[in-house]
Amino acid sequence: MTQPASAPTVSTAGPSEPLLQVEDLRTHFETPRGIVRAVDGVSFTLARGKTLGVVGESGSGKTVLSRSIMGLLPKRGTIREGSVRFDGTEITELSPKEMRDFWGARMSMIFQDPMTSLNPVMKIGKQITESIRQHLDVDKKYANELGENLLRSVRIPEPEQRLKEYPHQLSGGMRQRVCIAVALACGPALLFADEPTTALDVTVQAQVLDLMATQQRERFMAIVLITHDLGVVAGRADEIAVMYAGRIVEKAPTSVLFSDMKMPYTEALLSSIPKIEHPSHTRLNTIPGRPPNLVTPPQGCKFAPRCTYVQPRCLEEDPPLMPGTQPGHEYRCWFPVGTPEGAEALARNRADQAVTGGAA
Ligand SMILES: Nc1ncnc2c1ncn2[C@@H]1O[C@H](COP(=O)(O)OP(=O)(O)OP(=O)(O)O)[C@@H](O)[C@H]1O
Ligand SMILES: [Mg+2]
Repeated sequence: MTQPASAPTVSTAGPSEPLLQVEDLRTHFETPRGIVRAVDGVSFTLARGKTLGVVGESGSGKTVLSRSIMGLLPKRGTIREGSVRFDGTEITELSPKEMRDFWGARMSMIFQDPMTSLNPVMKIGKQITESIRQHLDVDKKYANELGENLLRSVRIPEPEQRLKEYPHQLSGGMRQRVCIAVALACGPALLFADEPTTALDVTVQAQVLDLMATQQRERFMAIVLITHDLGVVAGRADEIAVMYAGRIVEKAPTSVLFSDMKMPYTEALLSSIPKIEHPSHTRLNTIPGRPPNLVTPPQGCKFAPRCTYVQPRCLEEDPPLMPGTQPGHEYRCWFPVGTPEGAEALARNRADQAVTGGAA
């Protein structure tokens, strides 16, 4: 695919520079209740062609993080601090108009709710070709052909017929494929997929994720795959960032995360992976307790009030990101899973609980 004629900047990134570098990003919402720290100091990098899985419970900041990077924040949401370098450009300094030139052409997003991200009163064909023509300097006929090919590439049967239909005429799975086709229309280097399969049944879910993986390989595209379900990213992400209360609390290459997780929160998320008897798109929130209030978060570790390993230190001192033993592994915990300190903490709490009869 050709580069869009209207692309605002040519890549100034060196070959070794990651496609995306996020540094200490903080996004706040001003609300009548006070300032909501929805993203509270997030840093990560993502290389071309790679997949970062972003996992966390509902409200942990996954969507706000991706919308902050895309420059698509709702009203009252502002980036207060931090830097987002994308392909050599500091994008937090771009005007909304400059940012719009990036959307679709350089970075794109499959939104959390496929029903609302497609325009219900516009035919599918028009939605795809408008996106193509907005960024690529091509005529209508060519845009139509490209649109048809895209639908074919996301394995939509009879694409020429589908182009003439409205979103409500398609099944949920087909609609999500159309969203993927729209997101891929201009060959972005980076795709945010925000819970791309949550509304779909398990079989269709796997098909849609496989399809994204195929498109990624063909296009050498980087993906940020957002989900509340660690099971979804298990075999699909190169690296996983676990979010809690607007922060990354653990980050590691995928195999390291599963073999050597250090955060009790990650462990709790893993044990809440939907079982066969529950459909995998049900929103499970099996970790006891509630996520913290982001206006007045607790003083120490934000997960401490819900943590089975909790010790007095956790309630007072906020743990920084600490390096794990394996490269690329970082976590925030004073009493990590699988360490002697962690095992002692857990044993102490279990003994206390036995004494108090579980009333603690
Ligand atoms: N427009 C807004 N105004 C105020 N607070 C907001 C707004 N949008 C999001 N938030 C808050 O920001 C925090 C992070 O929300 P976000 O939507 O990013 O969570 P999420 O991890 O994507 O959750 P989910 O899994 O439910 O999609 C939440 O506490 C949420 O209440
Ligand atoms: Mg979300």
